[in-house]
Amino acid sequence: MEQQINLVGKTDPEAFSLLATQFASTSAKDALVVTLGNNGEGILIPFQDRFWGEFEWHPLHVGPPSWQFILTRSPTKLSKRTIGEFLGADHHRCDELFIQMENASQAKDVTGATTCFTQFKIGMNQHFAMEETVFFPAFERATGMTQGPTMVMRMEHRQMLGLIGQAAQALEQGKWEGVSRAGSTLMILMRQHNIKEEQMLYPMADQHMGDADVLVRSMQKLAPVNPSTGPGK
Ligand SMILES: [Fe+2]
Ligand SMILES: [Fe+2]
Repeated sequence: MEQQINLVGKTDPEAFSLLATQFASTSAKDALVVTLGNNGEGILIPFQDRFWGEFEWHPLHVGPPSWQFILTRSPTKLSKRTIGEFLGADHHRCDELFIQMENASQAKDVTGATTCFTQFKIGMNQHFAMEETVFFPAFERATGMTQGPTMVMRMEHRQMLGLIGQAAQALEQGKWEGVSRAGSTLMILMRQHNIKEEQMLYPMADQHMGDADVLVRSMQKLAPVNPSTGPGK
């Protein structure tokens, strides 16, 4: 079940306290849609301190003037998180949004397809930003490999963003064939890219980078990226 909580106009301590109380009473099946008047950083830091390993937090809408996030309870409480587990779960979330968008698009459901596509686009931009501004630089520092896998991954991100842009344009113009064409190529690229990361890059990072938990916290609290000004724009 999805519950809404509007915290626009509250101070960070007030908003944190209200959110913590509501989250404490949610089950794994519930999702909280949180609306804020800022990018959420002032709430997320104490929230991580109180509930680390128990929740997922993803942007749905990026302001100004308001920001929206989806807060869900993790199925199992994790005392520590790894790069592979955290970013792998995020791949899975974006894949799910993409499938929902395709289903709505095949049914010519404009509203449904647009909603899923917007969330997918925001999710992908955030994922790329977490990798490119937090994870890849840390990986490069730890391994000294600046021209290796991270360079290839960055290039593939640009290709995927290009296809997301094409699909967005086709969707805006109601050209369903264009949506499906860009979507099919994007799906193939995404699969190949994610396999490389999940089977090679993330395990390598988890093995060589010491305490990944700190890095995962930094990725999760990265300010939401506005797709119109994010990476590749
Ligand atoms: Fe990536
Ligand atoms: Fe990734």
